Amino acid sequence: MKQRIKQAIENLKQLTASNLEELEQLRIQYLGKKGLLNELFAQFKNVPNEEKKEMGTLLNELKTSIQTKIESLKDSLEQKNEQRIQIDDLTKPSYLQTTGSRHPISLVRNEIVEIFSRIGYSVEEGPEIEDDWHVFSALNFPPEHPARDMQDTFFVEEKTDGNNILLRTHTSSVQVRTMEKQQPPIRIIAPGRVFRNETISARAHCIFHQVEGLYIDKNVSFVDLKQSLLYFAREMFGKDTRIRLRPSYFPFTEPSAEMDISCNLCNGKGCNVCKGTGWLEIMGCGMVDPNVLEASNIDSKVYSGFAFGMGVERIAMLKYGINDLRLYFENDIRFLNQFKSII
Ligand code: DAH
Repeated sequence: MKQRIKQAIENLKQLTASNLEELEQLRIQYLGKKGLLNELFAQFKNVPNEEKKEMGTLLNELKTSIQTKIESLKDSLEQKNEQRIQIDDLTKPSYLQTTGSRHPISLVRNEIVEIFSRIGYSVEEGPEIEDDWHVFSALNFPPEHPARDMQDTFFVEEKTDGNNILLRTHTSSVQVRTMEKQQPPIRIIAPGRVFRNETISARAHCIFHQVEGLYIDKNVSFVDLKQSLLYFAREMFGKDTRIRLRPSYFPFTEPSAEMDISCNLCNGKGCNVCKGTGWLEIMGCGMVDPNVLEASNIDSKVYSGFAFGMGVERIAMLKYGINDLRLYFENDIRFLNQFKSII
């Protein structure tokens, strides 16, 4: 009998049940009226007195082992069943999918590109590490011209011929690269990262993004410039947006202008974002200076064109009400999460 009990305890370890009916069969086999346990307890009467203690302990051990085994088989079957029900229940809401989000600078950059691509502009890119020629000289900045002081440059390498290597201070360098490899008609925008030696603050950063635009063909006039930029302003900031052009100066355009849009917060009435003026400055622009065309071997007697350049951070600030440039670079998840639903 002792042997049978020990064998039964051993056998229990191997038991499995693939469904509830099989489990019930096992329960009957072990715990039922005519089951193994009852049979052994019946035989217990005949066990000699001196063995009763040991046999009793073994029988109780068998009893708890059977009960625990059956409980655990039941638990795992129920668990499986629950999983199946969950999958089968197609009316249940799906699990929350956590996805990343695009950076506001990418969102605005993509939107600008999309707006201009609808009127035939294609995207051009150029290197961030540039030379003096493409950033300054070919854009009509004479060597000692004070205009060079407008932009504090990070120099990488000084060259004996003066064509120093530097981090581009504006994406206007891509204008030059495009004109060097392509004759008009040219209609491009050049989004990209630019660098200036600025102290980092809420309003200035040493790294930021610009989108440059260039259109060169026969008979391009200031009217084309104005109308193209009005189209852009309305697509970007809403169809009631107005623009104004103020005379300005850039070495690479003549005449040059700054473009303002009517403040989209107060509708031109004056608020603290537009500092009471009703207008927000968003880009520089102008007719490409004939010297710039000639520097890249484009005949300025045949062709004319316009150019413009805007800061992506600035446009995103106005669009989303962001008031500190540093937020763009800190990668604070609380800031980035706010752009989740905007694709
Ligand atoms: N490159 C200028 C800047 O960084 C922006 C700019 C102004 C670009 C006028 C242009 C332009 O193409 O015509 O401030």
